[in-house]
Amino acid sequence: MFATARSDFRSKAALYEELRTLARALLEGERDALANSANLAALIFHSLPDVNWAGFYWRRGEELVLGPFQGKPACVRIAMGKGVCGTAAAQIRSLVIPDVNAFPGHIACDAASRSEVVVPVSVAGRVLGVLDLDSPHPGRFTDEDARGLEAVVREFVAATDLG
Ligand code: SME
Repeated sequence: MFATARSDFRSKAALYEELRTLARALLEGERDALANSANLAALIFHSLPDVNWAGFYWRRGEELVLGPFQGKPACVRIAMGKGVCGTAAAQIRSLVIPDVNAFPGHIACDAASRSEVVVPVSVAGRVLGVLDLDSPHPGRFTDEDARGLEAVVREFVAATDLG
């Protein structure tokens, strides 16, 4: 019913531009946060190559709690400031981790994960959660991925009613 981005033979810039356009179309006409985050996790997971986990953690007080995702079952609660997700949320900035084993305090959910990118979901400087992607390949994510995913998250925030 819905298209996913084609990742073959294309630059990351072109891939993320298509992903952003597809996300906008996918989320149009629906403002429910659970529905939109579930569909966006699925779109991202099936559009980007070499990703073994993609999904959201939502802030509940001083913790992040697992939200909609695609991939293997994951850790449910992450304290703010802990792991890659909690660090990105606490610092309100995207983190690109080329080698998760070199990140102090990395929380291993899927033993296959080797690299990771986390993008905060924030509204008016307030962190509501994070978008987290894992890859089984070291160095899979660069700043270009972070910028592309930030643009996709902006589409999500604009299209969704968030607490
Ligand atoms: N690796 C993350 C935990 C979440 S999983 O990767 C799905 C972290 O260190 O915060």
